Amino acid sequence: MYCIDIMKEEHRNISYMLSAIRKACVAILDGGEVNDGEMRRMIDFTRSYADHYHHGKEEKFLFP
Ligand SMILES: [Fe+2]
Repeated sequence: MYCIDIMKEEHRNISYMLSAIRKACVAILDGGEVNDGEMRRMIDFTRSYADHYHHGKEEKFLFP
């Protein structure tokens, strides 16, 4: 597997999480309760995986 394939796979993981976040936010706007633990885990994933892990690799290796 080439490194670009890994990056593309990570994009798919991030896109999947974004759709889950969007779905959770729409449910809240529709009057649903806020699942605090779920929201914190989604935010943690976004910060640690997308921002630090994935984008860190993009900035360091793909677009130095
Ligand atoms: Fe990316």
